[in-house]
Amino acid sequence: MNTSGVVIRVPGKVNLGLSVGPLDSDGYHELVTVFQAISLFDDVTVQYGAEGTGIILEASGSTSAGVPLDSSNLAYKAADIMIRRFQLTSDVSIHLKKEIPVAGGMAGGSADAAGVIVGMDSLFELGLSRDELQRIGAELGSDVPFGIAGGTAIGRGRGDQLTPVLAQGTYQWVLALSSSGLSTPSVYAECDRLREGLSIARPSANDALLQALRAGDAKELGKALSNDLQSAACSLRPALRLVLDVGREYGALGCIVSGSGPTVAFLVEDEEKALDLTVALSSSGVVGGVVRAGGPTHGARRISSF
Ligand code: C5P
Repeated sequence: MNTSGVVIRVPGKVNLGLSVGPLDSDGYHELVTVFQAISLFDDVTVQYGAEGTGIILEASGSTSAGVPLDSSNLAYKAADIMIRRFQLTSDVSIHLKKEIPVAGGMAGGSADAAGVIVGMDSLFELGLSRDELQRIGAELGSDVPFGIAGGTAIGRGRGDQLTPVLAQGTYQWVLALSSSGLSTPSVYAECDRLREGLSIARPSANDALLQALRAGDAKELGKALSNDLQSAACSLRPALRLVLDVGREYGALGCIVSGSGPTVAFLVEDEEKALDLTVALSSSGVVGGVVRAGGPTHGARRISSF
């Protein structure tokens, strides 16, 4: 029987380290970042659509409210680029089952685009390599290649040039979600504003962080978490400082704003600490929701076909 659709599961990410260089003339900042894929997933279904319907996008799931379903969505753009590049003649229908927060600094939109690229490669039997899939992803957004790759990786350039990291161990995260997102460009712009007049060094790898990952040492990893966008995210959303304080008070090994925020990620030692912190955050009145996840996990991969 021929396949008429595929389901691709794609993870969200946290940036364990994010070193941001000066603003370049192309409007981007040179980065050195360490990504970890975590077990909060979007499931992207890609199937043949009825003839003449073009690209159809639908969404469901706990974080799907307010997701645009038109050509402004990165998943739509991903389908469009695949159709043009490979001269595909069929119409496609895409369903996003979303669990990753929207505009949360966890690359949810990028994950959906990654899912569409991998899904269309599979459905149309294009046989593209991981490198080719990631190159297409990089044309859509800086975080899309990592959604395809997963695991733990260093991102250079815009964050899209990936090298896997030697990493041991698994890590438990408690994530404090906000009820409204932050726009990535405005957080970068705020970072530039806060650093105005300072001389900004080229971005660099965080050796303590990489050493902690090599050793699989959660305590050292907690101490080494760092994010140059954190002050900018907190400046735009001062309540994030209160959220970070709750984590420190309840014994998290480390707390960090994820990417451009506003999700705050807490690294915890064990199940008991995770539960304590989940309860404390839920009753603090300063977060929109709390979820737990583990990392690292796999990148975009097919979980079923029909
Ligand atoms: O690549 P992406 O579309 O995800 O980037 C969104 C925005 O984030 C860019 O338009 C830019 O303002 C900012 N950005 C940046 N430097 C990076 C990545 C993103 O300034 N390395």
